Amino acid sequence: MGFNMRYLDLKRKIRDVRMWAIQGIAEAGSGHPGASFSAAEIMGTLYFRKMKHDPSNPGWEDRDYFINSKAHSAPGFYSTLAVAGYFPPEEIKTLRKLGSRLQGHPVRYSEHQKHHSVPGIEYSGGSEGIGLSVGIGIALARKLDSEKNKRNKVYVLIGDGESNEGQIWEASMAAGKFKLDNLVAILDRNRIQQDGFTEDIMPLDPTKDKWAAFNWQVFEVDGHRVEQIVDALNKAAQVHDKPVMIIANTIKGNGIRHMANNPQWHGKAPPKRHTEVLLEELESECLIAPSIIAGERENYEDKIRKVEREGVDMIHLDVMDGRFVPNTTFFADTIKKLRPTTSLPFDAHLMIEKPLEQIQEYIDARCDIITVHAEACTENEFREIQERLVDAGISPGIAINPGTDVPKWLYYCLHDLDVIIVMSVNPGFAGQKFMPEVLPKMVALNKELRKHGFKGYVEADGGIDAITLQQSYDAGARIFVAGAAVYGGGDIHGSVIQLRHKAAVALEKRLLNHATQLNIRPDWMKARKHILIPYANELGIEEELHVTK
Ligand code: DX5
Ligand code: ZN
Repeated sequence: MGFNMRYLDLKRKIRDVRMWAIQGIAEAGSGHPGASFSAAEIMGTLYFRKMKHDPSNPGWEDRDYFINSKAHSAPGFYSTLAVAGYFPPEEIKTLRKLGSRLQGHPVRYSEHQKHHSVPGIEYSGGSEGIGLSVGIGIALARKLDSEKNKRNKVYVLIGDGESNEGQIWEASMAAGKFKLDNLVAILDRNRIQQDGFTEDIMPLDPTKDKWAAFNWQVFEVDGHRVEQIVDALNKAAQVHDKPVMIIANTIKGNGIRHMANNPQWHGKAPPKRHTEVLLEELESECLIAPSIIAGERENYEDKIRKVEREGVDMIHLDVMDGRFVPNTTFFADTIKKLRPTTSLPFDAHLMIEKPLEQIQEYIDARCDIITVHAEACTENEFREIQERLVDAGISPGIAINPGTDVPKWLYYCLHDLDVIIVMSVNPGFAGQKFMPEVLPKMVALNKELRKHGFKGYVEADGGIDAITLQQSYDAGARIFVAGAAVYGGGDIHGSVIQLRHKAAVALEKRLLNHATQLNIRPDWMKARKHILIPYANELGIEEELHVTK
């Protein structure tokens, strides 16, 4: 399971990677947003969670190696290195400029090359198709070197367009032959190369069978779900006598809706004047978290599997002790039993008294996010809870009831705080009516938090449905708990689609408003036209869109 990856912190870092990359590409007026974004979760999970590396000591003997063979994803790669601490992210804005260290394709770092490279780059990505061979060379050398070095991993990122290169298949035979179990290749399977779709240009499928036939252990994941990538990397660490291939099914340009799965954005930069709106979009990813206590009682496994099939982002677990709230649901032991049901992150909402006394049980139950109530702990108790969660790689959260204001002391705990739940019902039951009076509080809180540098998520919990989701979105929430709205009506599939649809309408409205403020509305609508059409009616822009050429 993708446990102790501090899920929300990892998501946030990967969001920052996309934001730096798009600024660099827009500033340069050229670059590859498509690949930078399709590989963002892969590179981010490696650098921020899995790889043994040290930005303050790039040549560390015991480090794992990362070979970026799909070199055109350079803006995303540079941004990942910057967010990981190898150089100041601001430098991304010099991308492709004369004299910049960050050129179109990465250059292997050395004293000799230091003027056009940055520490941490292990490989000069020129024409593609070569990186896997270099990775095999390093993995073989490490194996031949010494017992100690056998443990270093070599990770190689390759593309599916790049897989047209014959050298890739020569290399894959060699890796199978030498049983390189210290080598993990990750295929960024975004199904687009240059100006078209891979299966039209040079079909690669059945991809999995190909690599397995070359004696590789193959895993396949959703390449934008960090929990699945962490899972596959954990499994790869258990494989012996075989190299590992992780096929990561991704979407080119993922993160910016008009760039997603669109060959046009393989190697094209957005107009610089769009940058602010694009940054707003990247900061506005919505996460849907169904609350499994809603609807029919028990049968939690089944309820989890049903929403997992609908592509929700995480599972909201309402723990109620019958004292802090007038209802009792389940506790850490039940969560522990549910853990193997899914790799989806567990968002545990503890409505219990004295959470500090019981926190270890929830840490051991392998929750990914643990939120306690501000009304149930003192400042010192919360600080201790927060510290223990961060140490355990769990995202810490705090919840406030409708009648409660944020405690002043919380503004001194924002650094390691990943989520704030603003309750929109009095806690205790699912299926209650949303309290609109919390909206102005959410707006004010969100403003105050941003002012204090809060980079985490605001979560809306209680009475969320298609309408109140939009209202909470406008008020600043980006994580939406939905109980009755998902499990209450018997049509889980339709409900999740409708919540996603409403979140998209709220996003498009926000971006249109921003574009209007920047006086680029027609220009933005032109770039965004095919995305806006399904929402034109709800956004009241049918006429305007019709005349947009
Ligand atoms: C209430 C819980 C909520 C609730 C959500 O105390 O914290 O998570 O279960 O269910 P709905 O969406 O039905 O209000
Ligand atoms: Zn809840």
